[in-house]
Amino acid sequence: MDVTGLINTREGWVDRRIFWDQAIYEQELERVFARAWLFVAHESELPRPGDFLTTYMGQDSVIVARHTDGRIRVFTNSCTHRGNRICFADGGNARQFTCNYHGWSFGTDGALMGLHEEAHYAGWIDKSHWGLQNARVETYKGLVFACFDADAPSLEDYLGDYRWYLDIVLDQTDEGTEFIGGCVRNDFQANWKFGVENFTGDSLHASWTHDSGAKAMTYGKPVPDFMPVEQDSFHANANGHGWEGGTDGLGTLGIMSLRRPVIMAYYQQKRAQMARRLGELRATRLFGSVVSASVFPNFSYLPGIGTMRVWHPKGPRRIELRAWTIVNRDMPDEVRNAMRDACMETFSPSGVFEMDDGENWENATRANEGVVTRRQRLHYGLRVGTSRRDDPDLPGNISRPMYSDVNQLAFYQRWMDFMTGQSWRDIPRVR
Ligand code: FES
Ligand code: FE
Repeated sequence: MDVTGLINTREGWVDRRIFWDQAIYEQELERVFARAWLFVAHESELPRPGDFLTTYMGQDSVIVARHTDGRIRVFTNSCTHRGNRICFADGGNARQFTCNYHGWSFGTDGALMGLHEEAHYAGWIDKSHWGLQNARVETYKGLVFACFDADAPSLEDYLGDYRWYLDIVLDQTDEGTEFIGGCVRNDFQANWKFGVENFTGDSLHASWTHDSGAKAMTYGKPVPDFMPVEQDSFHANANGHGWEGGTDGLGTLGIMSLRRPVIMAYYQQKRAQMARRLGELRATRLFGSVVSASVFPNFSYLPGIGTMRVWHPKGPRRIELRAWTIVNRDMPDEVRNAMRDACMETFSPSGVFEMDDGENWENATRANEGVVTRRQRLHYGLRVGTSRRDDPDLPGNISRPMYSDVNQLAFYQRWMDFMTGQSWRDIPRVR
């Protein structure tokens, strides 16, 4: 399907069809999710050989497992005999995965191991050809990504300049990060792109959508009290990945710390070590006033709040959200418990902000489908064209202030690159 007329990133508008059309959705699975690097796990979820979890890459069910050689493998969760789903558990530890139907078994690297009654197959199968499809797997400072496209660039190149921003969360201390408290799921009857575009650069909604929830949580303080000062705020994007925040202000860390001062006390104590690793600008000014961020295509996080999340597409009108709390490994129990509780209080199925957001995205998905409604484009023109790659301090494309559609347009430009490109040869390496 030719999608070239559906988005105009120079004029700043989007066709509503991209939020509900089945054919566009099928093309997204083929051209975005089967080509991009996708977040699948944090290394801390799989500490020992045999540890595994199941998740999705697009709508493909996959097993993420630490093999006996210590490496993490990612492979399709569908038997090569009749296609039955092999593993139904969310996670655990296993020596192999055995299919319910006829008993074929596969190793923690996806290789076909046994056929139950080997005698039946003597001379009829070359087992080395019938293993599960392995994805490429690369990690970035604890985060595990996988990709099904052999022509994709390395994960480091895919992230590009954006690594500088990711490091603000992943590289604060010598000991690194981990996920705690398991995975929390939530379901939205909404298009997956609404979750991503909201986290990649929609600070505009926060003061309006979250005003009452924020006041309830913060003893009456309105959201703008926690936002970066407007003249110091900015949008950064690189290769379709986005970061919004400022160089001054309280940000999401301020909201977290108000009710749980141990969090801010921890960061004050860590400031010198963070500055040594990240420099003063990133360690204090940027981290202290960040709002939200996303990695293309469907991985988002809130650096101060500690939520990391994947918007799994389940059809054009449904998202399965999986979310975790990320903490520094060196955090004392009191601080990590505070981080987890604050994360659940804000961004979980019962979190005050998650509910606010989900309602908007569900209604937008439904309303965009109206047969007359759909004829009118959507406005994405706030500060369109103001993104520039020449800031002396901040890598990537920068636009000021952060109240703009600039990062959302960068996300949709990348989406367009993937949707129109016949292969990775047509997709710009740096955008
Ligand atoms: Fe898996 Fe037959 S479908 S063993
Ligand atoms: Fe929100």
